[in-house]
Amino acid sequence: MPVDVLLGLQWGDEGKGKIVDVIAPRYDVVARFQGGPNAGHTLEFNGKRVVLHTIPSGIFRDGVINIVGNGVVIDPVTLKKEIEYIESQGVDIRKRLFISRKAHLILPTHRMLDAASEALKGKSKIGSTLRGIGPAYMDKTGRNGLRAGDIESKDFISRYKALTEKHSELLTFMKYQSPNSESERDFFEGVELLRSFKLVDSEVVLNNYLNSRKKILAEGAQGSLLDIDFGSYPYVTSSSTITAGACTGLGIPPTSIRNVIGIFKAYCTRVGSGPFPSELNDETGERIRRQGNEFGSTTGRPRRCGWVDIPALRYACMINGVTHLAMMKSDVLCGFEQVGACVNYFYEGEKTGIMPFDIVHREVRPDFRMLRGWKEISFAGNFNSDFADYISFLEKEIGVKISFISTGPGREEIVVKEEMAV
Ligand code: GDP
Ligand code: IMO
Ligand code: MG
Repeated sequence: MPVDVLLGLQWGDEGKGKIVDVIAPRYDVVARFQGGPNAGHTLEFNGKRVVLHTIPSGIFRDGVINIVGNGVVIDPVTLKKEIEYIESQGVDIRKRLFISRKAHLILPTHRMLDAASEALKGKSKIGSTLRGIGPAYMDKTGRNGLRAGDIESKDFISRYKALTEKHSELLTFMKYQSPNSESERDFFEGVELLRSFKLVDSEVVLNNYLNSRKKILAEGAQGSLLDIDFGSYPYVTSSSTITAGACTGLGIPPTSIRNVIGIFKAYCTRVGSGPFPSELNDETGERIRRQGNEFGSTTGRPRRCGWVDIPALRYACMINGVTHLAMMKSDVLCGFEQVGACVNYFYEGEKTGIMPFDIVHREVRPDFRMLRGWKEISFAGNFNSDFADYISFLEKEIGVKISFISTGPGREEIVVKEEMAV
């Protein structure tokens, strides 16, 4: 059976967690393929609100296996907290969760290196989540990292010490403090819990599932505009957030991928620094933040808000091969007299509908088209006409059909406009 990939098309926080939770029962397996606890995926059901950072968003669905793939970076401290919370909800997580031996570990010193690097950057800081993501991926590509499977080996402690000594030297050079014993104790408590878990060669497990015709959903973190190659570099995260990342982050063949579900908000947000052409630094932006409760799920930071950015969405659909769109948080825009969409950019004296190479050092301004807003969202076979017009406008501009429309944070608040064959 093929793999379906679900990922964000903007700067993260599009609502991936919610959609994974909604569609997980259609699959046998949900697998996270990149990122780490920089992610915060929110699920709302039975009056509960849960934010997941490392564990896939299919974990609350009976009969669904969840896999943390090799492309993920794991902080044992965060993972332990997540596991304990999920267990406290009566979920037998040990039966449902497998963790890749090849996933790299985030050490306490990675978190400190993240903070030190941001401090050194001063005004041009990335606005990272300070979860140690960049330094952990640097150690992975620099061929220094420790992997989850290494905790099973006898010399794990000495390898940990060797790596943290290197980090301590770097931290001294960066004039930053060394890790304290408390953070190391938390780390080793997390490692202990990880040891009691099922570590697997997830690429083998997943390919076996594929061969036995199981249905797999690959869950992305962050968003395409934060991708290390195609995002607004250097204001990006350190992993491959796009469809191709599902292949390297899970060890599945490109030919196994079928549906690619791209998630976007009916408007746009960004948290952290970096360019945001359709940002609204005015009362309208404030209103979106207020109505959309746009505060980070991981760090609580206020998210920057703006209108939907169509050239960016087209670009994201292109690099991901998006086959189905899911539009989130349309309800947040209810009551706006008019709703805007950035249809082109003004860039280097020209109007362009194509994402330019450099939007960091060169000015890019939005060409907004204003459309009629909607008072409410109702669905009886069709949506109310003003909202339906917005949907048709976006589908035409982006060139992909919107299959799912989310109208609230809850599991049930979803309209399937076009069925997706699974
Ligand atoms: P993720 O990182 O892509 O999973 O998204 P986050 O969980 O960080 O942020 C999305 C936020 O929007 C969460 O608080 C969700 O509960 C909420 N949410 C998701 N879909 C909808 C929706 O359609 N309407 C509203 N109002 N909130 C939504
Ligand atoms: P989910 O999966 C939104 C942003 C940070 C920062 C940049 C780099 O919940 O959508 P990092 O800690 O990765 O080095 O930070 O990326 N960022 C996110 N923004 N949602 C996320 O994840 C993010 N993960 C990282 O704010 O600008
Ligand atoms: Mg999030």
